[in-house]
Amino acid sequence: MKMNQLFYKRCLRMYAWYSSQRKIWGEPCPKTVAQCLRFILSIARLKFEFYFLDNLYLPYIEIAITTRCTLKCKHCSSYINTIEEKDLYSLTFEEFKRQIDNLLANVKKLHVLKVFGGEPLLNQDLDKILRYSLANKKISNVILTTNGTMDISDKLISIMKEHRKKMYVNLSNYTSNKELSPRLKTIELLNKCKENSIATIFDENLLWRETSEIKYSGRTPKEIRKYFFKCTKRCLHIKKWTLYPCPWAAMYDFKNLYLPSLQIVKNWSAWTKAGGGTIEKIDLSNPVKKETLVRFYSNSDYLACGFCSIIEDNLKKRVIPAIQE
Ligand SMILES: C[S@@+](CC[C@H](N)C(=O)[O-])C[C@H]1O[C@@H](n2cnc3c(N)ncnc32)[C@H](O)[C@@H]1O
Ligand code: SF4
Repeated sequence: MKMNQLFYKRCLRMYAWYSSQRKIWGEPCPKTVAQCLRFILSIARLKFEFYFLDNLYLPYIEIAITTRCTLKCKHCSSYINTIEEKDLYSLTFEEFKRQIDNLLANVKKLHVLKVFGGEPLLNQDLDKILRYSLANKKISNVILTTNGTMDISDKLISIMKEHRKKMYVNLSNYTSNKELSPRLKTIELLNKCKENSIATIFDENLLWRETSEIKYSGRTPKEIRKYFFKCTKRCLHIKKWTLYPCPWAAMYDFKNLYLPSLQIVKNWSAWTKAGGGTIEKIDLSNPVKKETLVRFYSNSDYLACGFCSIIEDNLKKRVIPAIQE
């Protein structure tokens, strides 16, 4: 199987870095000699596995198991606040399982699966979803991200505790937002996880960036590609039976913006044909072929990057998290 440079850069480098340093997130950047060595060895092993054993390793995928939420944050980066009631969904366990099974049908390992939403604790099948993800030998680590407004049941705690070596609870720290104080159980949840030896990810000083309105930026295909290369986010995202390059791409599609935009971006189809191999998203209703995943990871012409404002948003002033509409 052929694999172009981008696939190495974006996918294998991240996987090699995370697995060799036992990290679950962050940009690959070795600092000490030992770290460099581990990283290089890991890259060599992954290349060997890919070329000689035909094994595929994926670094990170997140899945929105519900778009329902207990909050309505003005600057929600997943734009959950903008979804109309009729379009909200929650996955059943069977739907979750089929999507993950189809995604991983031809994958050797996924380093991190992040389960989030919306608010994932609102999903009635969360216990089954976590149990399945944690017992799945292809998945090395599972992160559950919650906004801290709901209790984590004893049943969920015991499932997480049983697999605590690969389980992380990412507790979004909205405690600096005093308006939310009466609704937040963040500190109790932190203590509960600690008492049960479940690892937590908690940012003491969390601040947010303001988000921008979703609209087509007017970028040309060349500018779209440039934008993609500037982006440091590598947060592949599953929404409604589809794998996208990021949650923002998922949201643009959710709002049916892609097709009309194809007509706006001049010469898009001719240009991508010339570049070859463009694949914007992957359907997860059937098992995904290895070649499809490699093409997807190798792509640098995502139409979604024509809508994105993440680079401009990152320059905006920081705001208190989870301000409500
Ligand atoms: C979209 S939320 C979904 C999970 C859950 N509802 C929560 O709020 O934690 C996923 C993550 O995005 C972060 N996030 C949302 N909007 C953000 C923004 N405008 N700036 C920075 N982080 C943001 C949240 O803090 C959370 O850690
Ligand atoms: S809690 Fe806020 S940031 Fe998290 S999904 Fe809900 S609206 Fe978005």
